[in-house]
Amino acid sequence: MNKDFTWHLIALHPNELEFNEENLAEIKVAGRHLCVAKFDNKLFACATKCPHAAAPLKNGYVNVQKQIVCPLHRYKFNLDNGRNVSGEGYFLKTYPVEEREDGWYVGLY
Ligand code: FES
Repeated sequence: MNKDFTWHLIALHPNELEFNEENLAEIKVAGRHLCVAKFDNKLFACATKCPHAAAPLKNGYVNVQKQIVCPLHRYKFNLDNGRNVSGEGYFLKTYPVEEREDGWYVGLY
């Protein structure tokens, strides 16, 4: 499905974002709160709350398979597409992030 994204600058450089020790941060952009993950020198954005029982995902971690792991019941979600890879049938909303010449942008819809 094609989506019309509105792109917003979130940082000139990832170092500007206040990542915790698990490389997760919560940011506010265009009035929306997003969870941002830094993985392999790239940024990924998703909803701040787990779709299962609304735990704050910034308190979880990203595993080596680029999956964000919820801090509460450890459900795992693919950061590229939000798929619940641990098999419970939930779906995490994700947002595209692009690195451009003038900074990092997130696409909202
Ligand atoms: S609240 Fe995230 S897995 Fe239950």
